[in-house]
Amino acid sequence: MEDVKGILQRGGTILGTSNRGNPFEFKSRNDRGEIEVRDRSAELLENYRRLRLDGLIVVGGDGSLKIADRLMREYGIPVVGVPKTIDNDISATEYTFGFDTAVCTATEALDKLHTTAESHHRAMYLEVMGRNAGWIAIHAGLAGGADVILIPEIPFRFEKVCEKIEERVAMGRNFSIVIVAEGAKPAGGTEIWKERAEDSLGGGRLGGIAEFVCSEVARITRQESRVTVLGHLQRGGSPTPFDRALATRFGSTAAHLVAEKRFGTMAALQCNEIAAVPLAKAVGNVKTVPPDGELVRIARSIGIAFGD
Ligand code: F6P
Repeated sequence: MEDVKGILQRGGTILGTSNRGNPFEFKSRNDRGEIEVRDRSAELLENYRRLRLDGLIVVGGDGSLKIADRLMREYGIPVVGVPKTIDNDISATEYTFGFDTAVCTATEALDKLHTTAESHHRAMYLEVMGRNAGWIAIHAGLAGGADVILIPEIPFRFEKVCEKIEERVAMGRNFSIVIVAEGAKPAGGTEIWKERAEDSLGGGRLGGIAEFVCSEVARITRQESRVTVLGHLQRGGSPTPFDRALATRFGSTAAHLVAEKRFGTMAALQCNEIAAVPLAKAVGNVKTVPPDGELVRIARSIGIAFGD
């Protein structure tokens, strides 16, 4: 308890963890500068035994929780999972903590972009994180009054984005706000990578899609346009009250699950109640925005375009 006192207001991690370095496929560069992949999980097991741990509470996103699941299955290490990622892409839980804070930051950015959009009659593009899920984009887009939301789950067409912007101009709305998830992709195309990092759990860094869409759409519509990439501002700062409460609820639940020896489970939020779900179920597949789900339907019903 002493170790985690006074951290409610802090973002990030006090553990010094990383989103690089899967122990089962640990990637590092050899002397010749080439990437080498080694299974270092046996070293992890050795350290685990040396430290005489009773089990692991693994706090993280899809990649970390998958590793936790594998440590339990292959080495019998007792684990309990806690879903933490701004991407909100973990199955079996309605929310992960970190997500609400990221959505607040993205919404605030949209609010601020509205000012220049309206006064200078521009199309303003905001690129947000989320990896291959559009949760941050759709939530912030709805909350911040975006006109177009581009998410990985709904491949877009440039002409449809142009159509929406031109339709607004025809209505006397000389500005538009477009929020673009970093994993968004054109129909028949692929996502854009800023850097392919072999040692990253997600395979690299996505980035650049908003610039790509903006330059193409601006070329066609001839409307002055600007791009903002929100980047790591979404991953930092003081967490929202919702995230603080959720993290506390998940953390306390994880401690109880360990005390009850209910290993192989993950704390989750279901129907706004905390539950324990099988870890294997949570890491089975990435939770993405249902293209025909309620959020998309509501957004469409109020005139938001998805570029399809
Ligand atoms: O998975 C969380 C996340 O913030 C993604 O939304 C984003 O693509 C990625 O991590 C950024 O990772 P890094 O900080 O390594 O660039």
